[in-house]
Amino acid sequence: MSKLKGKSVLITGASQGLGRQLAIDFAREGATRISIIGRRVEGLNEVCQRIQEIAPQTKVLAIAADLAQAEEVERVVAMTLREFDHRLDVLVNNAAAIGPTPIPFLVDYPLEDFRYVLNTNLIAPFVMIQKVFPTMVKTGGSIINVTSDTGVTGYPGWGAYSISKFSLEGMSQVWAAELEGSWVRLNWVDPGDMNTAMHRASEPEADRTRWAEPAKVTDVFIYLASDESQRVSGQRFQAQVPD
Ligand SMILES: NC(=O)c1ccc[n+]([C@@H]2O[C@H](COP(=O)([O-])OP(=O)(O)OC[C@H]3O[C@@H](n4cnc5c(N)ncnc54)[C@H](OP(=O)(O)O)[C@@H]3O)[C@@H](O)[C@H]2O)c1
Repeated sequence: MSKLKGKSVLITGASQGLGRQLAIDFAREGATRISIIGRRVEGLNEVCQRIQEIAPQTKVLAIAADLAQAEEVERVVAMTLREFDHRLDVLVNNAAAIGPTPIPFLVDYPLEDFRYVLNTNLIAPFVMIQKVFPTMVKTGGSIINVTSDTGVTGYPGWGAYSISKFSLEGMSQVWAAELEGSWVRLNWVDPGDMNTAMHRASEPEADRTRWAEPAKVTDVFIYLASDESQRVSGQRFQAQVPD
């Protein structure tokens, strides 16, 4: 239970769903400092409280921010690095917007929504990595981008979300290639179907009993955040074995 002992971590989209569970499980694994980001303060406060209960030694920094705005991403990184004595070992780019639901076909997709989804799911991770890199490269670290099967297959009706995940996967490959030879590694994980607010909104009619709870998919993230994966970079992981 101490795979992440001493680690300073930043997790985006940690006010609910997978990001919330990652924050809790990383704390349980001994992470020393965790910065959690989301727009909703209530969600972030609940996660802080939960972590205080199970891992009171972990310092939690909660920052409410809309990552669709690049200047907010910069503020989040600056605040985190200041509070964490300019040390960051792990960055998880988990936050994502699904866009309008039901998801319109591209022919009807509103441009403003398209921009918002791309800003949140693609531009924010890009800026986040750029801003943490100068600090992370000094001591080494792990960057984990959260992707989806909609980032490798163009299903109809997944709109800007799918396009953002295709782009995130391409960007992850380029970052990983450019980071080669540095002490910073970058991998990306498809968590598979999970029972979260995003999934319930995008597929309201689906059978939720077939979806995993976020707690079932965090092992691969703990591995990638830990020193066990020190030599692993440029790889795509699937947290669940597909049917
Ligand atoms: N659920 C699935 O079946 C599934 C499958 C494949 C991949 N994924 C991926 O897994 C990751 C987590 O998804 P989830 O299912 O846990 O979704 P979720 O429950 O909807 O959580 C999304 C998180 O992102 C945050 N967020 C969204 N837009 C934001 C913004 N503009 N600025 C800051 N924070 C923002 C939300 O917080 P606030 O609302 O507080 O801002 C929330 O904490 C995503 O990358 C998603 O694409 C999910």
